[in-house]
Amino acid sequence: MKSIVILISGRGSNMVSLINAAADGSLPVRVAAVLSNRPDAKGLQIAAAAGIATQVVDHTLFNDRESFDAAMTAAIDSFSPDLVVLAGFMRILSDGFVMHYVGRLINIHPSLLPSFPGLHTHQRALDEGVRIHGCTVHFVTPALDHGPIVVQAAVPVIDGDDAATLAARVLTQEHRIYPLAVRWFAEGRLRLNGGRVELDAPQDHASSLISPQAAG
Ligand code: GRF
Repeated sequence: MKSIVILISGRGSNMVSLINAAADGSLPVRVAAVLSNRPDAKGLQIAAAAGIATQVVDHTLFNDRESFDAAMTAAIDSFSPDLVVLAGFMRILSDGFVMHYVGRLINIHPSLLPSFPGLHTHQRALDEGVRIHGCTVHFVTPALDHGPIVVQAAVPVIDGDDAATLAARVLTQEHRIYPLAVRWFAEGRLRLNGGRVELDAPQDHASSLISPQAAG
């Protein structure tokens, strides 16, 4: 069975969706460890309570990004994961880190990339007046919130939404597509072709999901 290491910085709700899917058998991976750059990340306690190894590499203890990334790389590689899963990991990654994990490092971002990379995606979507918003799972490249797209889910923007209501609608879809993307990886169904991802045997799932009607 393939193994994953999950990197978090905060509450870890996407991490929980992955742990739960692995526990109920719908995601055929072993969660080898959960690592965080923040000792106070709430998700660490949840992971530990689920019996998963946790480790903190506190970025405030390092003088520069490269030395932090080297320590994080050593921590990750001690678990020999097949895939490194960024789940609300709030650090800019050095090119060296990204290249070390090329093709086996994925991220979830709360917008329909390439729209709204970076922070405050929900407020920015509201400010732009977009009617469709969503989330994206992508392989990581050195560019921020960029890389071959694995799966996206779209949600409507509804009159009266604020950033919180829109974030909640998107988060529900994040919890759906991240386990799906990791499962596709674990099943060996993702092929990188240039800047694009090809999904083998896509007949049972579309790699773009429209909420709430589309089946997961
Ligand atoms: C999610 O919205 C994710 O898309 C973004 O950071 C947030 C993390 O939330 N990268 P959680 O820690 O998984 O609850």
